Amino acid sequence: MKYFIDTADVAEIREAASWGLIDGVTTNPSLMAKTGRPYHDVLREICEIVDGPISAEVVATEASAMIEEGEKLAKVHKNIVVKCPMIIEGLKATHALAKRGIRVNVTLIFTPLQALAAAKVGASFLSPFIGRLDDIGQDGFAIVEDMVQILSNYDYPAEVLVASVRSTTHLLRAAEVGADIATVPFAVLKQTLHHPLTDLGLERFLADWRKTNQKI
Ligand code: G3P
Repeated sequence: MKYFIDTADVAEIREAASWGLIDGVTTNPSLMAKTGRPYHDVLREICEIVDGPISAEVVATEASAMIEEGEKLAKVHKNIVVKCPMIIEGLKATHALAKRGIRVNVTLIFTPLQALAAAKVGASFLSPFIGRLDDIGQDGFAIVEDMVQILSNYDYPAEVLVASVRSTTHLLRAAEVGADIATVPFAVLKQTLHHPLTDLGLERFLADWRKTNQKI
């Protein structure tokens, strides 16, 4: 499973990228707004750090304006993937952008049929928001499982990109159901790498080794 980092904070991206774990980045208007910085500057900086798909979202809600914004965003760097929301206007924009060779990540997907529609119009990435489904008492992963199953019946090139990941369990389940990608906030990503027994075990190994007075 590919790991994307879900943030527009370049310090976080730089740090996680240095671990060798990051295959791409997803941003959204809320994450961009949090940086307080000019959109294109942030995108350019991210593209210099990570050599993989970098999702940048449009903010228009009408197809022709989304296409215009998408084309501008795509010009920032060859790795930019335009993010369009899963509304009918967003599907129209996705179709048009895909026909022009621009990769699109369809975001705010909450049902398998929304995902299928996005795949049919040419999306490269499908982003189900599992945490937000959990928030309203539904099992976010039921839709991811269905999406993976449905897409395996056909030949759409779209990849399932699990988003709104809030916990290590979410990341584990994404891998268990065979999602192509999970996009993970920095803090959650870091959590998945730690275990107290790892730290304790290392402490004991090093203490025993020190007693030998040897060097490697
Ligand atoms: O990638 C989508 C993600 O940023 C949304 O996460 O936690 O705001 O639902 P969240």
